[in-house]
Amino acid sequence: MSSEPLQLQRLHRSAHEEQYLAFATEIRDRGEGGFDRLEMLFSDIDEYFDLVHRFEHDEELPNQWVNMSHFVFFVGPQLVGTSRLRHRLSPWLELDGGHIGYHVRPSQRRRGYATEMLRQTLEEAHRMGIPKALLTVATTNAPSIRVVEKNGGLFDKETLSPRSGETMHRYWIDTAPERRP
Ligand SMILES: CC(C)(COP(=O)(O)OP(=O)(O)OC[C@H]1O[C@@H](n2cnc3c(N)ncnc32)[C@H](O)[C@@H]1OP(=O)(O)O)[C@@H](O)C(=O)NCCC(=O)NCCS
Repeated sequence: MSSEPLQLQRLHRSAHEEQYLAFATEIRDRGEGGFDRLEMLFSDIDEYFDLVHRFEHDEELPNQWVNMSHFVFFVGPQLVGTSRLRHRLSPWLELDGGHIGYHVRPSQRRRGYATEMLRQTLEEAHRMGIPKALLTVATTNAPSIRVVEKNGGLFDKETLSPRSGETMHRYWIDTAPERRP
């Protein structure tokens, strides 16, 4: 990984809008899936950031949604990745989504950022009182499987994603720092 530290911040529109849009534009331009509400971000940015705020703070969310924190990761002034931490699981998330999802800016991949982003997000989960985090990864996503394994993910079982129909691997990770690699 680059020698500059990867710095986690909670996503805030006022502080991060410009960098967040630059990051999302790279993902959109590659036609990459897997980044929730990417279309909404470009078509209705007010609604997008309103949802980010509600996911963090609202006690009653519609559609069986669960509370979720959005994090952004910086190396110096550049936003290189994002992660999302769901505060609890739902039947849907048990099959696809789990507690944590992450995305690295396409131009910044293969530098160890995702591995470190997951490590830092697991620390947040631990602080939040989540003892074990569930990660679900499509069996075709070799880089992400490696990221989970490097953070101590223990394979649980295969599931089928209700969203994409893909076969997923489920992993559990003990969030206590002393029980992780
Ligand atoms: C998956 C993803 C997060 C990995 O990000 P990254 O910053 O490139 O990952 P890292 O640099 O931490 O690499 C982790 C491991 O994967 C390996 N890896 C990374 N990209 C790879 C690729 N394209 N092919 C094979 N291995 C790859 C790395 O070599 C490393 O393993 P090693 O330490 O044994 O060498 C990134 O590709 C991404 O954002 N993909 C789209 C979104 C996504 O799939 N998110 C995960 C959903 S579960």
